[in-house]
Amino acid sequence: MPATLTFNTDPSRFHINNKLLLRRITYLLKVMHVPDHGLSILFVDDSEISWLNNHYRNKQGATNVLSFSLLEGNDPLLNNIVEKELGDIIISVETAAKEADKLHVSLHNRLTRLIIHGFLHLLGYDHERSEKKAEEMWDLEINLMNQTFHSRSNQMTQLAINVDHVATVRQARGITEPDPVAAAAICELAGAAGIVVHLREDRRHINDRDVRILRETIKTRMNLEMGANKEIIQIALELKPDMVTLVPEKRQELTTEGGLNVFAQKKKLAKTIARFTKAGIPVSLFIDPEKKQVKASHSIGATYVELHTGRYCDATNELVREDEYQLIATAAESAWEMGLRVNAGHGLDYQTTAKIAALDTIEELSIGHAIISRAVFVGLDQAVREMKTIVRDASMFF
Ligand code: PXP
Repeated sequence: MPATLTFNTDPSRFHINNKLLLRRITYLLKVMHVPDHGLSILFVDDSEISWLNNHYRNKQGATNVLSFSLLEGNDPLLNNIVEKELGDIIISVETAAKEADKLHVSLHNRLTRLIIHGFLHLLGYDHERSEKKAEEMWDLEINLMNQTFHSRSNQMTQLAINVDHVATVRQARGITEPDPVAAAAICELAGAAGIVVHLREDRRHINDRDVRILRETIKTRMNLEMGANKEIIQIALELKPDMVTLVPEKRQELTTEGGLNVFAQKKKLAKTIARFTKAGIPVSLFIDPEKKQVKASHSIGATYVELHTGRYCDATNELVREDEYQLIATAAESAWEMGLRVNAGHGLDYQTTAKIAALDTIEELSIGHAIISRAVFVGLDQAVREMKTIVRDASMFF
């Protein structure tokens, strides 16, 4: 274990996600070229850190982080015993929580920053030595913070493909070709980890025959996208897809326009989720990247949220895109911290996907239009493989 986390304060009081922090620490050890070293982090309250601050640094009052490096000093016996141990970082969660509030960032964001600060001290960086050293440490801290948030240390993002658009072409002629069932098989052979289909109330593209056959033929995972209406819920319960994604559905729209307002329909959606949960079908809620919607989704028992990436993809300039991206990154982190699984999709293409795939909190991307459009020119197999390479490269990062 590269790092150990110990709590001298009640962890449940602050809902700290050990897994997320350990993942980030593993990444930090790797990028700072000490992947085989360990460190220990102790989370305490203000009174304990005040005592330590006074005892070891002769300073009064609480502070946010203290670090005690084992690389300092030249005691050969100690160095031998603690070989490959960098030292201890002590963090007051109470102070970190107050700072997070003030800075309008999540607690994990603040804890990550303090861990990075303490970690750099363990490696010998010291902002108190000179202005130049302070600047050097500050720059590296920011740099590591950015890298950590875009990193992923264990598992690559999955690519699920929405084949509705193949059915849309079929319906334009009202005949049997092209068949979304055949498309799904090609997508899977090219490396898709799942197939998504939206059975709309008006059956404008995917129809009952498609979902029935797809349920038999999909070898990976079938994600049935649907509005929460009575008839479709009944079909889904009989079909038993691997998961369902609830979306808002309007008859006039060309495609799903916005996310579900879960906050406003908690009662109705909770009932639907309960029915699916009873049938063993996990539910994902397609929402805009807003904390209020994430919290509401969590409170009514969703297993996943799918964050709407449409505004990020449609941005007409890079500043707006960056703002939208930050909303997605923050919402994904909030959801992850709450224990929700996080997917994302809508409007993603060969340019916009990499940045979303690199977020370490996102498990799966659902992409349709861009892949099927490209398939018209290069073939479906190649279009899927190209997107899969983008997703894999972005999510494996290092
Ligand atoms: N996710 C959801 C919930 C959707 O409604 C859609 C569109 O059908 C997608 C993902 C895929 O979007 P696109 O076709 O723009 O890639």
